[in-house]
Amino acid sequence: MTDRIDFAALPDDFAWGVATSAYQIEGAVAVDGRAPSIWDTFSHTPGRTDNGDTGDRACEHYHRWREDIGLMRQLGVGAYRFSVAWPRVVPEGDGRVNAAGQSFYDRLVDGLLEAGVAPSVTLYHWDLPQALQDRGGWPVRETAERLAQYASVVAGKLGDRVRHWATLNEPLCSAWIGHLEGRMAPGLTDLTAAVHASYHLLLGHGLAVQAIRAQAPDAGIGIINNLSTVEPATGSEADADAARRMDGHTNRWWLDPVHGRGFPSDMREVYGVELPERAGDAGVLAQPLDWLGLNYYFPAVVAADPSGPPPFARPVRRLHVPRTGMDWEIDANGIETLLLRLTREYGARRLYVTENGSAYPDVVRPEGTVADPERTAYLHQHIAACARAARRGAPLAGYFAWSLMDNFEWAYGYDKRFGLFHVDYATQTRTLKDSGRHYAELIRGHPRRSTPRAA
Ligand code: IFM
Repeated sequence: MTDRIDFAALPDDFAWGVATSAYQIEGAVAVDGRAPSIWDTFSHTPGRTDNGDTGDRACEHYHRWREDIGLMRQLGVGAYRFSVAWPRVVPEGDGRVNAAGQSFYDRLVDGLLEAGVAPSVTLYHWDLPQALQDRGGWPVRETAERLAQYASVVAGKLGDRVRHWATLNEPLCSAWIGHLEGRMAPGLTDLTAAVHASYHLLLGHGLAVQAIRAQAPDAGIGIINNLSTVEPATGSEADADAARRMDGHTNRWWLDPVHGRGFPSDMREVYGVELPERAGDAGVLAQPLDWLGLNYYFPAVVAADPSGPPPFARPVRRLHVPRTGMDWEIDANGIETLLLRLTREYGARRLYVTENGSAYPDVVRPEGTVADPERTAYLHQHIAACARAARRGAPLAGYFAWSLMDNFEWAYGYDKRFGLFHVDYATQTRTLKDSGRHYAELIRGHPRRSTPRAA
C-alpha cells in the first residue's frame, strides 16, 4: 500500500469496527414472532430485486451470531455496529412487544460484551414493519411517533449495556430512493410522499433521541447520513446550479434541520411541496447530538437536467476513473473533505465513519483464500484519508468497515459482495478475504483500547 496511515492522528480510544444491518444478514424472517417488513414485501415482488433475491435466509445470522462474533474476534475489532429489526421487536409497529425478538438482541449484546466488542445499535435501517406501511408509512406522522415508542422499548431493554446509539441509517435512501426513485422499499415514485417521508423520518429521529435519553441517560446518540462530495460536470453556470441543488438534496436537507437550521429554503423551492410542519417540530428535530455518523462510498459529479425529477441534476459518468463493482467512482479524498465539512460547517464535536467499503465479485480459490486487491486498496486509502482528516482537526472517533461479511445488497441481491468475509450462501461458510487480513493488520498496527465512547 502506498498511502501511509498517520495512526498518531487518531485518538487512543479510536473505535475500529465493522457494520451490518438486520435485514441484510439475519434471515429467519418468520421465526420467533417476527412480522414482515416493507423489505420482505418489496423483495418478494417480482422484478424488484436482481435474480428475485430476498432476505429470507441471508447469512442466517439469527442462528449463527455466535460464529459471527468469532469473525469479529478474528479481525480484532473493538466495536460492532448492527441494527435492530423493528418487525422482530414490535412486529405490528403498534406498541405490542415481542419478547422472543427482544431477547435475540439481548443475547447478542451480552455475547459481544463477553467477546470485548462494544455494541453500536442502529434503530432503523430501512425495515419498517409492513403493518405501519399499510397505515401510510413514512409519509404520515404516526410513523415518526411509532419510531419513538419502538426506540423506548429497545433502549429500555439494552440501554444498561449499550452506550452507542444511532436513530436512523441513511434517511436519504428511505425517502428519496424508496419514495421518489422507487428503487428501494416501499417502491414509490411520488414527490409529495418522498418529501413528507423525509420530514417524518427526521421528526422520528428527534422523537427517538428524546425516547432513548429518557431510558438511558448516559447513551451517546447520533444519526447516520450517507453524504457525497458534489462537483459540477463542466464549468457552466447551469451545472454549478445543478451541483448546488444536488448538494442540497444529498447533504444539506439531512444535516441542516438536525442542526437547528431548518430545512434549506432553496430546496423547499426546488421540491415545491409544502412540509407537514407543526409548531414545535423544529426544536424536536434539532435535539442535541453526541455524535454524527458518516457513511461514505463515492463522490457525485452532476450536470443540469431540467426535464428530470427534482433536484434536476443527473449524475455524469466520468471516464478513466477507477470504479468499484457497483460502478461507483472511487475517490478517497471525498471522505476527508466530508469529515472536515462536518467539523467546520456543522461544528461536529465527535464523528464516526459508520460505513465505508466496496463491492467486487470475489471468488474463493481452491486453497481457501480470497484475493481482493481492489477492496484492500480501497480500504487502506480511505482509512489513510480519515487519518488525514483527523490530523487536520476532524474529531474522528471511529471507523466501521462495511461490511463484516457479504450480505443481501438490497435491490442488487447477493451478487454484490461488500464483506471482509466471503459468504458461500449455499453452505453458509464464511472465508476471510485478504482485505479482512489487511484490516486486522491495520488494527494491530494501532493497538488502542478500541471502545466507542458514548459522548
Ligand atoms: O449495503 C448498504 C447499507 O445497507 C447502507 N449503506 C450502503 C451499503 C452499500 O450499498
